[in-house]
Amino acid sequence: MRAAGRVVAYTLAAMRDAIVPGVTTTMDLERAAEQAITSNGATSAFVGYAPDGHPPYPAWTCISVNEEVIHGIPGKRVLYEGDVVGCDVGVRLDGYYADSARTFPVGRIAPETEKLLAVTEEALFEGIAQARAGNRVGDIGAAIERHVRKHGFSVVREMVGHGVGRYLHEAPQVPNHGKRGTGPLLIEGTTLAIEPMVNMGSRQIEVLKDSWTIVTRDRSMSAHFEHTVAVTRNGALILTQED
Ligand code: MF3
Ligand code: CO
Repeated sequence: MRAAGRVVAYTLAAMRDAIVPGVTTTMDLERAAEQAITSNGATSAFVGYAPDGHPPYPAWTCISVNEEVIHGIPGKRVLYEGDVVGCDVGVRLDGYYADSARTFPVGRIAPETEKLLAVTEEALFEGIAQARAGNRVGDIGAAIERHVRKHGFSVVREMVGHGVGRYLHEAPQVPNHGKRGTGPLLIEGTTLAIEPMVNMGSRQIEVLKDSWTIVTRDRSMSAHFEHTVAVTRNGALILTQED
């Protein structure tokens, strides 16, 4: 999983480096990702993914701009200065999965937008800090929610983090809200994808007609950060980082 996680981190960095405000489309970032993934001998965990009743996911990555929360499908949309672009990458390498997402600024962005990105990433790390043996899944969500609310933003509840390892999605579900001391017990060796989605406005979302893209109902901006981590006695190891 660490090897898969390195490919994910490398791919996200390649996507970030490909952003040119006013020029790059989300499809350009998809192509940069495909190149990064295949050149490392891995394959996308997302393409063709078809949870019950859904049409198969049609791309290698999810790319979500501004009011798009998650599961944006790469296409012709151009990235402009002031936008934010959420890039979500999952790969399979030698039978193991890793999954990570980051939201990048496009050129210079508004101070409030910068704050949204910072608070969401901080909330992810607050959650990761709770991912240690003996804690419960609810400790993760409670820490994330607490940090986000403190800064006046809202947490999306309908979509959650998840176990990850031999499949992209495994038990348990990992909500980004919750109550301390509740939910499944975290034991040594558990591997989780923790992934807060945070809206600048209300937490309400809706699904676009493509039946994948999730947007904020009030069309306010949204951010998404995700890491795959391993639970140890001494805390969480982040597996989706370059070293
Ligand atoms: N990272 C997301 C997740 O954890 C994206 C997967 S949706 C897919 O669920 F369809 F693109 F696979
Ligand atoms: Co995920």
